[in-house]
Amino acid sequence: MGPMKTSRTKTIRLDASRNGAVEEAAAILRAGGTVAFPTETVYGLGGDATDPVAVARIYEAKGRPSFNPLIAHVAHLEEAEKHGLFDETAQRLATAFWPGPLTLVLPLRESSPICELARAGFGTVGLRMPSHRVARALIAAADRPIAGPSANRSGHVSPTSAEHVLADLDGRIDAVLDAGPTQVGIESTIVSVIDGTPRLLRAGGITRQAIEQVLGRALGAETEQKIAPGMMASHYAPQARVRLDAENVEPGEAVLSFGAAKLPGLEGASLVLDLSPSGDLVEAAANLFSHLRALDASGAPTIAVAPIPAEGLGEAIHDRLMRSAAPRPVR
Ligand code: TXA
Ligand code: MG
Repeated sequence: MGPMKTSRTKTIRLDASRNGAVEEAAAILRAGGTVAFPTETVYGLGGDATDPVAVARIYEAKGRPSFNPLIAHVAHLEEAEKHGLFDETAQRLATAFWPGPLTLVLPLRESSPICELARAGFGTVGLRMPSHRVARALIAAADRPIAGPSANRSGHVSPTSAEHVLADLDGRIDAVLDAGPTQVGIESTIVSVIDGTPRLLRAGGITRQAIEQVLGRALGAETEQKIAPGMMASHYAPQARVRLDAENVEPGEAVLSFGAAKLPGLEGASLVLDLSPSGDLVEAAANLFSHLRALDASGAPTIAVAPIPAEGLGEAIHDRLMRSAAPRPVR
């Protein structure tokens, strides 16, 4: 499963111009590690987008209090098409601006191996093909989609050099691939094409005007379509009622446990899944979505969730569990 322990060791600095450095970085990614890498916009914090443990380590390193969906970086259009559904509009944008600082948010292709944690439970996927030579070489060598938020601590500004990355993340990530300062300096423009309608979600390295010129139409207004934090509540939510901080188990309940805790009444549970028997929050985050889904699929009316520590990644786990427990419209 790759390096399970979180990186509290020294972050390796790899000089991208040295022979073999890109391959070394790719090997770390393939083993489930985290590598900050240059793109033409800002440095990204890369991890295998198909590996929920790697993705959990990204969230942990950034100290994100909630799981935001992460952009999946690809090296080729054929790779992108394995993960997102491109309609004519999306195709046209990809043709015009890829490789380059445009991220397309598209409906997820069902067969895509990008993990649910990387998508933060959304049924869409953010795809980006960077133009930076080193980024593309790294993604191609890793031979998988690379999840990559900006390589900064949550709430800090995006890094445009390896020094910036290390100032925020030294000792929290496995390596940084240093190719000098980035060119564009601001993040990619994000456009969603979900229902045939292109919408600007984030202004960035490619201007609205350039995009509208290619499309021959106006983009939906940014303010209308911003992903508000509240929208996260409409994520995948279980059919079952979710009971948080359970101190006991009622007969027939499905149980999401943590740290091998034995709640009173556990023997009467219909199904028990442990987020992390050893009490590791990275492992717990990696298992969260799949365990919730499996418990829900068991048909139990209620999922009882054992107490989970709220520090570190636990904060994001709590955030996600609270949303899944929130009241929602009857379906
Ligand atoms: O230039 C960039 O885009 C840089 C480089 C590293 O590629 N990356 C970057 O990632 O800025 P990040 O995570 O800092 O910002 C990505 C934004 C987030 O606000 C996230 O919510 C949004 O993209 N995003 C990603 N996938 C999405 C999705 N499926 N639906 C809506 N928003 C999405
Ligand atoms: Mg960012």
